Amino acid sequence: MRIVLSLGGSVFEGDANRIRNYAKVLDQISEENKLFVVVGGGKLAREFIKKARELGANETMCDYLGIAVTRINAMLLAFAMKNSAKRIPETFIEAEELSKSYKAVVMGGTFPGHTTDATSALLAEFVNAELFLNATSVDGIYSEDPRRNPNAKKFDKITSADLVKLVASTSMEAGANVVIDLLSAKIIERSKLKTIVFKGEPENIIKVLKGEKIGTVVEP
Ligand code: UTP
Repeated sequence: MRIVLSLGGSVFEGDANRIRNYAKVLDQISEENKLFVVVGGGKLAREFIKKARELGANETMCDYLGIAVTRINAMLLAFAMKNSAKRIPETFIEAEELSKSYKAVVMGGTFPGHTTDATSALLAEFVNAELFLNATSVDGIYSEDPRRNPNAKKFDKITSADLVKLVASTSMEAGANVVIDLLSAKIIERSKLKTIVFKGEPENIIKVLKGEKIGTVVEP
């Protein structure tokens, strides 16, 4: 199966052991699947972007800085894995090419204007992934931001059309957060990507692939 996994930058905020645990699980998964991993920039990217803004950089410049950090994180994970290509592709075409020689490919961002949420959805579309796994810091998709409203309802399942509506209605509020951004929700919808959003601990990645019901399944 061709799988695209979106891995938030928070993974790289722990020590080497944390990254080693992800690397082991991803090596294991890529023994039986063609695996593409897109990693985020996390705190390091936010720090660099904040500093660059203070120095007068515009938003596109900040995006380039963020992309550079995601690629450093990608390198760290790729170097920790046995099955991954060591070169970090900068485009989807390169990623697809590399996947012909390697069981796993790890990459970061591509071009300015969005986050790795959208990058990973576009990659999933480009490589015709059968499964798009979105490993995030919360345990699924909620009706509202659960950190702001404790009564928010968690969805076990949601259709991609309803996801687009949900994200569009909440993304207008400042600080609102629905784990998936509008662009990736739209890509999931148009490509009918089977998507699972879940809390991205290493053991959860294995559980999701075994079919255990955790997180939220986005149905085409
Ligand atoms: P992230 O995907 O880590 O952004 O990319 P984020 O939303 O802050 O991360 P999470 O979801 O909380 O972990 C870091 C930054 O890199 C730039 C953007 O500026 C983004 O905020 N970026 C990333 C791009 O411009 N294009 C890309 O394809 C990827």
